[in-house]
Amino acid sequence: MNVIDTKKRIRDVFERLAETGIDINEAVYEHFLSRSTVAAEHMASVDERMRGRMLEQVMLLLMGDTEQQYLEFETRMHRSYGAEPGLYLKLFTAVKSAVKGALADDWGEADEVAFNETIQRLMCNIRVLENG
Ligand code: HEM
Repeated sequence: MNVIDTKKRIRDVFERLAETGIDINEAVYEHFLSRSTVAAEHMASVDERMRGRMLEQVMLLLMGDTEQQYLEFETRMHRSYGAEPGLYLKLFTAVKSAVKGALADDWGEADEVAFNETIQRLMCNIRVLENG
């Protein structure tokens, strides 16, 4: 899938998610924090509203709205929160898993491909930013 089609597909997924009216916040953080004690420790004191704002930015990133400059800013900010590439991957995977769960039968093969490609692209950028 080319980058434009991937972005369109991810947008389409989030539109379909919005139509379901399901709030994935809890599912995302449950998935993410249960897979990393480091993240769980750092996020323990982060309240629901801040978690919501963080998830909002992660979703915009997945939709390709923000990208490189924003990623540079956040990864710099997040070093002090213990965030390293492996944790970003866990977070993106948690979002994918929560969206997939919410869409259930409406989640298709093209959605899977679009998410995997997007996560891969973001992870390449994050690894370059973090490892030089
Ligand atoms: C690309 C992925 C990420 C994005 C876009 C992102 C975005 C954000 C944003 C926007 C906030 C501030 C919310 C606000 O004050 O309004 C935030 C806070 C926070 N994020 Fe992330 N985040 C990401 C990944 C991570 C990861 C992997 C961790 C792992 C530990 C993490 C840990 C935290 C913590 C602990 C805070 C709260 C900081 C505080 O108490 O001020 N984030 N994030």
